[in-house]
Amino acid sequence: MKTDRRNFIGGVGAVIASASLPLFGKDDPSLFPKRGVVERLAIAYQHIHIGLPQPFSVLHISDTHLTAVYDDEPEYLVKFAKYRAKVFGGRQEEALRDSLAWAKMNVDYVIHTGDFIDFQTRANLDIVKKVFGEEKALAGSMGNHEFQRRIPDEKIDESSIAGLRKYGALSMKLLAETFPFDISLQSTVVNGVNFVTLNEVVGFVTENHVERFHAEVKKGLPIILCMHCPFFTAELSRASSKYWQFNRKFRHDNPGPMNSFQTNDPVTRDFIAYLKSEPLLKGILTGHMHLTACDRFSPTAMQYIVGGNFMFHGEEVLFT
Ligand SMILES: [Fe+2]
Repeated sequence: MKTDRRNFIGGVGAVIASASLPLFGKDDPSLFPKRGVVERLAIAYQHIHIGLPQPFSVLHISDTHLTAVYDDEPEYLVKFAKYRAKVFGGRQEEALRDSLAWAKMNVDYVIHTGDFIDFQTRANLDIVKKVFGEEKALAGSMGNHEFQRRIPDEKIDESSIAGLRKYGALSMKLLAETFPFDISLQSTVVNGVNFVTLNEVVGFVTENHVERFHAEVKKGLPIILCMHCPFFTAELSRASSKYWQFNRKFRHDNPGPMNSFQTNDPVTRDFIAYLKSEPLLKGILTGHMHLTACDRFSPTAMQYIVGGNFMFHGEEVLFT
């Protein structure tokens, strides 16, 4: 039979109207208990060409959202952990363990770009110390969930930068003591590439970040910026609004800002404008959106967002 495009698609059933998709029963992990390490993970692949004498690769993961808690922690935390484990599937430690095992076999370094924990518990913070201490992950950045304190009746003003700064400040000491790297800005040079991880809490930067970033630029090395919240682009905003607002199809073309602080806060706005013209910036690795996507940020840098590690997602990035 002659295969033209139409009967090829029809023949393999590649295109199905989503409205006609069947619904399935509950997931039963016991049906597939012996999945191999590789099959358990959904690893995307990206390539950043810089012109390096020595190629190397990195596993970029984000948003593991650990919900561990000890029995002797306050009851409200134990209850909340149970609820949040259901939100994230309850297999986050398994996903993390498999991702790190995969990394040991297949790449040179690991970067985790935030929301490693879902909220602060002693059990979660102990895992942070164990993993970042023992695994010698190349780098990590804070996510907005690292700051989640879950203190009953604690009021958080999330509508202003001043409010969020105040809220973030409540956790800075604890997080700085727990994570074995500078949680504000960390520079790690690998094979001549400067990985700069930036803690921007929820999408804005401070004068101190900007000053420290300029000091990194002065080193004259190519820079890969690693942080939690992506910078706004129209395409990423469109993808984000699709993912986070259910029952919407791709019919609109009017994406709003993903994070109003990026446009309203002058320090952040100016920093983004400057970054777009910085030739040493070669790529941006982020998470936060829980889906894998990428889009051009500047003439020299693409922005890569990796899907949630709690869903066994990660991306290998090859640097050449
Ligand atoms: Fe997240």
